[in-house]
Order: sequence, then C-alpha cells, then structure tokens
Amino acid sequence: MPNIDLHQLELQVVDIAREVGNIIREKRESYQPVSIEEKSAHNLVTEVDKLAEELLTEKLSKAFPGSGFLGEEGADIPSENGYRWIVDPIDGTTNFVHGLPLYSTSIALEKEGELVLGVVNHISMDRVFHTSLGRKSYCNGIEINTSSQKVVDTSLMVTGFPYHEKQLDQFLDAYKYLLRNSRGVRRLGSAAIDLCLVAAGHFEAFYEVGLNPWDVAAGALLVQNAGGKTSTLAETDDYLHGKSIIASNNHIHRELLDILHQFIEV
Ligand code: IPD
Ligand code: CA
Repeated sequence: MPNIDLHQLELQVVDIAREVGNIIREKRESYQPVSIEEKSAHNLVTEVDKLAEELLTEKLSKAFPGSGFLGEEGADIPSENGYRWIVDPIDGTTNFVHGLPLYSTSIALEKEGELVLGVVNHISMDRVFHTSLGRKSYCNGIEINTSSQKVVDTSLMVTGFPYHEKQLDQFLDAYKYLLRNSRGVRRLGSAAIDLCLVAAGHFEAFYEVGLNPWDVAAGALLVQNAGGKTSTLAETDDYLHGKSIIASNNHIHRELLDILHQFIEV
C-alpha cells in the first residue's frame, strides 16, 4: 500500500472540488432541465450530476492513481492500492433543480474501510470544508469546531425525512417532540451540508435514516475532526453502510439518542 501525504492530497482535493464546483455553478446559471430523471420516486438526477461525477472520477484518479471509486451516479471502480474515493457529485439535487443554493459536492477517501480524508464544497457559498486523518477540520483554511451546548433544550438541530411510510410516521413523531423541546429542527436537503454545519458549530446535531455512504462519508469525518461524535441510531460505528446516522457536538449525543429511541425503531 503506498505511503501518501494526506495533507498534500487534502489541499489538492480542495482545488479539484473548487474546479468542479465552478462548473456546476455555471451550469446552474444557464440551467435548462433537459433531462431530469427519477432514480426512484422523487429521487432526482440531472445531466449535471452525471457530468460532475465524470469530471471527479477523472481528476481524482489522476491525483491518486490506483485508488477505487464509488459514486452516487454509478461509478464503481475497484481499488488497486487499498484506497477508495466515495463521492456525491451533487448532494442536494432537488435543491439544485429548484435553484435553491443548498447543494454541495462531497468527496471522501477511505483506506480499507477507514475514512482518511473529507472535502465538501458548499458551492453557492464559496465555502469548502476539508479535513484529513490526524488533522483538525477547516472551512476555507480556517479551523472549525463543534458547539459547546450541553442539552437538547438549547440546541438547534437538522434532519432529513425518510421515504418509507412507516419510518416517516415515526420520524414525524420524533420531530414533533423535538420541536417542542429544543430551539428547532431544520430540513435543508443536503446531508453533506448538514454535517458541515454541525462541524462548524451552527447546529448541535444532525440525524437521518436511509442515507448512502456518499451522502455522509466526508461530512462525518469533518464532524469527528471538529470535536464531534458520529454513530448510527443503533449506536454502532457503521454509519457509512448502516443506513442511519446521528452526528453531534458530542455533548448532546446521548440525550438525543434516548429521545429518538422513544419514537424510532432501530
Ligand atoms: C439527498 C440529500 C438529502 C437527503 C436525501 C439524500 P441527493 O441526496 O442528502 O438531504 O435527505 O436522503 O438522498 O439525492 O440530493 O444527492
Ligand atoms: Ca446525496
């Protein structure tokens, strides 16, 4: 397995995320919905998602030859060196289609299952969040940290809603409880941005079920390296493949899990 300078690679990936982000932004400015497909009910994909994934596959493979690639739009390249990119070219495609400036590109690198690098570009805000193993988390080069709020009652949280009916009902019950017993729960529509905003201390926590590895990989490492905690709702570490995630400032993790367990079957 090659020895790599992760910090150097992190900075290279920040540049790649910016380059591709600029192309996504230009495409949005002149956006004509030529071909919006539904991958499943209400789950959209556009020609810009596909173009961005192609560009990222090409640029990341050049930056680190031999690494594998897993992308939301179908890229699945086996690794030759033990490393694999996990990429969401546009997280928040529905927002992108509707012209809401809440979409991002999420790029993570894993080494034999362990996350070692994470970069998220919140494109319309010109904010690139970045981190790598053994380092802190940064936004445009400035260190970020999770918040110091200690209890749910004084916390602001963010979530996303599941597509499955049964889970949706349980989620709405939890949502109702939290609305009455916290400062609020937002729904932005890009899990990668949600996680960055926990890492930067704007939200105390994010929780959602039914997500895929490319939605959460980069953001989860950003939360961890900013001082926060990540787990599944079932309290395991497999938030990448376990189809549920709670990411918090650490302080409210236990209390929020206990609340969610009252309503949501895990
Ligand atoms: C979606 C976003 C959204 C989450 C959905 C995801 P996409 O990703 O992350 O916040 O609630 O579950 O599928 O499809 O826009 O890349
Ligand atoms: Ca996504």
